[in-house]
Amino acid sequence: MSVLEGARVVLYVTGGIAAYKASDLASKLTQAGAEVDAVLSRAAEDFVGPLTFQALTQRAVYSAQTAMTAQNEIAHVRLANDADVLLVAPATANAIARLAHGQADDLGSAVALSMQAPIVVAPAMEPGMYANTATQDNLATLKKRGVRVIEPDSGRMASGAEGKGRLPETSVLLDVVRATLGRNGPLKDRVLVVSAGGTREYMDPVRFIGNPASGRQGVELARAAIERGAKTRLVLGSATVEPPAGVETQHVESAEEMLDALQQAVAGCDALIMNAAVGDYRPAATFDVKLKRGGEPAGIDLIENPDLLQSLQGEFLRVGFAAETNDHLENARNKLLGKELDALVVNDVAGSDTGFAAETNAATILRPDHPDLEIPLTSKAGVASAVLDVVVEMIGGR
Ligand code: CTP
Repeated sequence: MSVLEGARVVLYVTGGIAAYKASDLASKLTQAGAEVDAVLSRAAEDFVGPLTFQALTQRAVYSAQTAMTAQNEIAHVRLANDADVLLVAPATANAIARLAHGQADDLGSAVALSMQAPIVVAPAMEPGMYANTATQDNLATLKKRGVRVIEPDSGRMASGAEGKGRLPETSVLLDVVRATLGRNGPLKDRVLVVSAGGTREYMDPVRFIGNPASGRQGVELARAAIERGAKTRLVLGSATVEPPAGVETQHVESAEEMLDALQQAVAGCDALIMNAAVGDYRPAATFDVKLKRGGEPAGIDLIENPDLLQSLQGEFLRVGFAAETNDHLENARNKLLGKELDALVVNDVAGSDTGFAAETNAATILRPDHPDLEIPLTSKAGVASAVLDVVVEMIGGR
């Protein structure tokens, strides 16, 4: 289960052009099961109306008109007491200055001043305002007080200027909220390493032997680890998805590069989850220049790659994934024992809704001396959550 499910989030929207993006954030948080109380500053309402948030969160919205009534004097105490997190997004330079100086001149800033739970601030403004020492000093003050500040993206601003000051993608903001909510989770102070994606073994500069792994399942595993409070390292091969925010990610291509990266990543870790689809073979020879039609070799000699999981031994738990197209449980049981794993997650990659490129997955978790655990067809996040629950159980027993 995601930490967002049932979480109480106060979303304080302040008045910049990125306020319209906060409606997407409110929607995604709500879809993920959070109870979102949107609080709009007066200036935010010039950009986006309270009704939008009310419709998306299906809850009452606190706007400037409601902010200063006698009833809402108390609302700031109740909102702050009930909240698991306060997210200020977008946070304008003005809002940041008010928060840094402890002003409480509207409902959102009064909630901030009353908060016991964590505060996350996502600055978004013109690059010049963001770079200004006044703003940077105010952000430093907030960080010193334990506020999490999400670095803005660089790119084209509404004004046409290029620079740093854009509100990051909703998925990034969600990941930071997840990590914040999960900071004291069952994997707090634990280090998890996840490998994900596919490997590419180049024959020449433009051709390779690869596989269609999307990296989606592994990225969800890393996200589920973060949500449980783990310090998470991701070694990511070829993939069509972005790594989650807050995860230390190293990008690799070949199986040997992946092995090098993993050897470093597992130092001091508590568990390795080996989800990557590692190619078992690579071309014996690699050409420096592109092979020409008619000039290519009649056959490609292949040599075996190392078995990464076998090479990665230590004090940590080792969890493998087995992609099978037939006789899955029997093949998988042999792998569980052969590779001396603590657990093996088996999935049938021949199915259209459980394969490499699918959005969904189903799996069976095998462990020595434990009954098999079936995970029925669900999202890849759902499978990741079930796998991480087993990892938590195993780590707890050590
Ligand atoms: N694996 C690995 N190194 C390899 C191949 C696989 O570490 N060279 C890991 C995978 O990341 C996975 C587990 O081993 O966690 C099982 O991978 P899979 O491809 O299903 O099995 P193989 O051991 O390669 O066996 P086969 O291809 O014969 O089914």
